[in-house]
Amino acid sequence: MGLFSKTEDSKERILPKHLGIIMDGNGRWAKKRGLPRTAGHTVGAQNFRTITKYCSNIGIPFLTVYAFSTENWRRPQEEVSALMKLFKQYLEEALRDFQDENIRVRFLGDTSAFAPDLQELIARVEHDSSSKTGMVLNIAMNYGGRDEIVMAAKQIAQQVKDGVLTVDGICEETISRCLYTAGQPDPDLIIRPSGENRISNFLLWQSAYAEYIIMDVLWPDFKKSDLDNALEEFSRRSRRFGGV
Ligand code: IPE
Ligand code: IPE
Ligand code: MG
Repeated sequence: MGLFSKTEDSKERILPKHLGIIMDGNGRWAKKRGLPRTAGHTVGAQNFRTITKYCSNIGIPFLTVYAFSTENWRRPQEEVSALMKLFKQYLEEALRDFQDENIRVRFLGDTSAFAPDLQELIARVEHDSSSKTGMVLNIAMNYGGRDEIVMAAKQIAQQVKDGVLTVDGICEETISRCLYTAGQPDPDLIIRPSGENRISNFLLWQSAYAEYIIMDVLWPDFKKSDLDNALEEFSRRSRRFGGV
């Protein structure tokens, strides 16, 4: 099973149905240039736009980008404020931008923690793009894989309490249906730029059989050609899902 696209040498390659990107390395990118960390976030946000459009153009059906984790609130207030400002700016631009791209935008995470104006914008972006038929773009904001599983556990406990679900009726599908990604395929490929070899609480349940590609490039420097290289490598991997 797979989706195919033509590469330059016109061989067919398998594209992931669902691609996850941990957009990491903004701070280090800025530090290397003697700039404040927030300058890295600005360039990183621009790159988010470029890479998202590219994913849509090459025919990726689902893209999830990790923009802000449940743990990122631990950063200095100044950095968190700058990130919130960028989110507002970029979501406003996304409203215009992704209109033409036929991209449907969803948000993964507890968005109720954000300021009311940002929440309003999030609702507007989701609503205004809901009829789009192209790529689904999930923006993970105030997202944590553990937090998501706790949310699912609460929903399931409530359903058992209400008598609409039995304990024996709980299966893997029950949990998948309670996650922010309900109804979407699991990620096949997760790319982490910045060279860090860890998950950092991203799509814990969904990534059980995802392929990981760690790349030694900081997110603001991550180019379309880096994505192409990762997709090539993904295409060559042998996935067995526990079989032979
Ligand atoms: C990722 O870049 C952006 C967010 C987590 C919001 P970082 O800010 O984590 O950059 P590094 O990892 O410190 O370089
Ligand atoms: C993961 O990056 C979160 C995002 C990219 C949004 P972090 O920079 O927060 O992860 P750690 O702290 O290096 O694990
Ligand atoms: Mg980081």
